[in-house]
Amino acid sequence: MSSTGAPAQLTEAELKLLQALIYQECGMYFDERRTHFLQDRLQRRLRECQLDSFYSYYRLLISEDGKEELSRLLENLTINETSFFRNKAQLDLFHKHILEDLLSAKHQSGDCLIRIWSAGCSTGQEPYTIAMLVADALAYFQLRNPNGYDPPLPKPLVPPPWKLEILASDISYSALRAGQQGVYSEHQMASVDYSYRLRYFDKVGERYAVKQALRELVHFDFHNLKTEFLPQRNDVIFCRNVMMYFDEAEQKRLVEKFWRCLNPGGFLLVGHAESLLGLTKKFVMVHRNSGTAYQQVEVTV
Ligand SMILES: C[S@@+](CC[C@H](N)C(=O)[O-])C[C@H]1O[C@@H](n2cnc3c(N)ncnc32)[C@H](O)[C@@H]1O
Repeated sequence: MSSTGAPAQLTEAELKLLQALIYQECGMYFDERRTHFLQDRLQRRLRECQLDSFYSYYRLLISEDGKEELSRLLENLTINETSFFRNKAQLDLFHKHILEDLLSAKHQSGDCLIRIWSAGCSTGQEPYTIAMLVADALAYFQLRNPNGYDPPLPKPLVPPPWKLEILASDISYSALRAGQQGVYSEHQMASVDYSYRLRYFDKVGERYAVKQALRELVHFDFHNLKTEFLPQRNDVIFCRNVMMYFDEAEQKRLVEKFWRCLNPGGFLLVGHAESLLGLTKKFVMVHRNSGTAYQQVEVTV
C-alpha cells in the first residue's frame, strides 16, 4: 500500500526492472500476454512485504537479505499444472519404443543403470508416471530375458541387476515437497487407471499415497534450469511444459545444456505445445502414432 492507502502503481520502468530480474533468475519471460498475471503476483508480494513501492521491492529482491523473498516470488510465478499420464501418445512412444530399445542396448552392453530426469516435475505426477512405466517395462523385459538372478520376495520393482534413478527437479520448493509426500486426491488421480492404482498406491482415507517402493525410485531435488550446472549422464530427459514460459534465446540455451546432460543417443521429451524446431540441429525428431520425442545426435566439430 502507498502512504494514501491505495495499492501502489507499477510504473513501466519498475515493470521492466522486475521483468529483467525474473528472466535473469529463472528464464521465465513475461510478455504482454502475461503482464497482467505478473502484476497481480507482484502486488500480492508487495502487500505481504508491507512495502509502498515496487522500486523498494526490487531493491529488496536484489539485496543479500532478499534471497528468501526472491525465491518466494519465483514460487508465486510458476504454473504448476500437471497430471499423471499426461500426453498419452508421447508416453506410449517412451514406453513401447524408447524404453524397449534402451533396455536392449543396456542389456547387451552390460550397463544396468538407467537414469531419467524429470526437469520441471511440479508436484510429482510426471516422475511417478515415469517410475510406473519403467518398473513395468523392466518386469516385462526380465520375463523375456531371464538372467538367473533370484530376486528376494516380495519382488522388487526394479529387478536386479538393474538400477533405476529418477531425478525429479523443480524451482518450486512447495511443489517439490508435495511430490516428496506423494499423496494425491481423487481428482488428481483421474487419469490413473485401476490397475496402476492397485499396484502402486495405497488408499489413505479419501486420498491415494504412492507406495513406498515406488517413492524410493524418485529423488526430488531443487534445480534451476537457468543455471549452468545441471544433472549429467541421463538416458532420457523429460522437460515438458516448462520451456513454453521461456523466450527463444533461453530455450536455445536450455536445449544446448540438455544436449550435454544426455548420454550419447539419449532422448529429450518436451511438451505437446513445445518443439525444438528452429532451436537446434543437435537433435532429430522421432515420431510414432502422434507421439514425439527428440534424440540427441553426435555432432562433429
Ligand atoms: C506447467 S508445470 C509442468 C509440470 C510437468 N512437467 C508436466 O508437464 O506435467 C511447469 C513446472 O516448471 C517449473 N519451472 C519453471 N521455471 C523453472 C526453472 N527455471 N527451473 C526449474 N523448474 C522450473 C515450475 O515450477 C513448474 O512446476
